[in-house]
Amino acid sequence: MPLLIRNADIVNADSRSHADIYIENETITQIGANLEAPPGTGIIDAKGQHVFPGFIDPHVHIYLPFMATFAKDTHATDSVAALIGGTTTFIEMCCPSRMDDALAGYHLWKSKAAGTSACDYSFHMSVTRFDNTTAGQLREIVSDGISSFKVFLAYKNFFGVDDGELYETLHLARELGVIVTAHCENAELVARLQQALLAEGKTGPQWHEPSRPESVEAEGTHHFATFLENTGATGYVVHLSCEGALKAALAAKERGTKIFVESVVPHLVLDKTYAERPGLEGMKHVMSPPLRDKHNQGVLWNALQAGLIDTVGTDHCPFDQEQKWLGKDAFTQIPNGIPGLEERVNLLYTYGVKQGLLDLRRFVDAASTRAAKIFGLFPRKGVIAVGADADLVIYDSNYRGTLSAASQHTNNDYNGFEGMAIEGRPSLVTVRGAVQVRDGSFVGDRTRGKFLKREPAHHVA
Ligand code: URP
Ligand code: ZN
Ligand code: ZN
Repeated sequence: MPLLIRNADIVNADSRSHADIYIENETITQIGANLEAPPGTGIIDAKGQHVFPGFIDPHVHIYLPFMATFAKDTHATDSVAALIGGTTTFIEMCCPSRMDDALAGYHLWKSKAAGTSACDYSFHMSVTRFDNTTAGQLREIVSDGISSFKVFLAYKNFFGVDDGELYETLHLARELGVIVTAHCENAELVARLQQALLAEGKTGPQWHEPSRPESVEAEGTHHFATFLENTGATGYVVHLSCEGALKAALAAKERGTKIFVESVVPHLVLDKTYAERPGLEGMKHVMSPPLRDKHNQGVLWNALQAGLIDTVGTDHCPFDQEQKWLGKDAFTQIPNGIPGLEERVNLLYTYGVKQGLLDLRRFVDAASTRAAKIFGLFPRKGVIAVGADADLVIYDSNYRGTLSAASQHTNNDYNGFEGMAIEGRPSLVTVRGAVQVRDGSFVGDRTRGKFLKREPAHHVA
């Protein structure tokens, strides 16, 4: 059924206008004043509300075997949670371990999402080993519509690659025009610092941050950038958490290295005191890179507003309390990760836009448009324009609420942002023209989500 959205305050990354939006066959076909509504058209009045392009989370984990367990949630529930929070597309990290076959892993991840996602999705393909079969397998995966790889410089012996493998991955990526995303922490230093702390009897979650200090992330970021510089590949630093790492990335950019930067919502709104809470409360807030000293938050918000940090993702990675408790005797055994897919947009709006730290267009850019450009989804996604997919978020900035596990849609038994106030939420969300969410409830088609094929191409934001 065609849909007409009247009186929209349309906010794009590079423009703002008041108009009606007409949608037919999954696509925006007209934008203008007083558009006609042919018989049979559904009409929605957006008066007094912002209308944003569907938000894109460029960094989530849903199916994930990791740290002796599996991430808790599924595509069926996480995609609904994403939509309720205004995210209409996510890019999941496909993460077979070093011991696994990459191509088999890719097909496994794809099969987990197929037919079970309510929102659109794609994958970053992790390269966790590079041997004589890898290049052929990666070429096949790229030809299936994957235009980004992922490398971990952390997680020694599981996901982590050595320098030779990093070089080979970047060399191939450059040839294929594929961007390489990277978790930048020095694996050897983390392993040594972890051993030293445990040997001193320092086993609680408060020791997670000291085992991966800011200097270790800054070194990892500089290391990655140096490899980009010397291979000519394009890179994207995921979940950058601190000033030292930001300086390393920006210094590389100034030298001409093609490098993009992502921060994630936990690092913007939580600090390390959350992980220093005793026992399980602290464990709920263990992720890597760790939550940092509070002074980093101001640095990240400033860089985000200035566009020096390109995107904001979540690093959504749901483990429940029983799983977190696996680390009761040693912080090194706490499954790393904090869920946030449902909360990202509302937190960014509340603690960024409403606090005056982020202007509205940059908010759209950071949470949607720039990810679409960097990862080859633009202009199909990330913009309200004629010809784009009709993924729209009508946003009620007068809504007031409180985040909590009791009311979340993510299938987990805690919420890392428990008790935090939010000012605004989506009142209506469409995926390619179909209404999926109304007033905080899922009302749509649970299998509407499509696997998005992405072309290898670098779109400079
Ligand atoms: O703590 C985190 N970040 N868990 C997920 C894996 C990763 O490093 O992205
Ligand atoms: Zn990571
Ligand atoms: Zn991650």
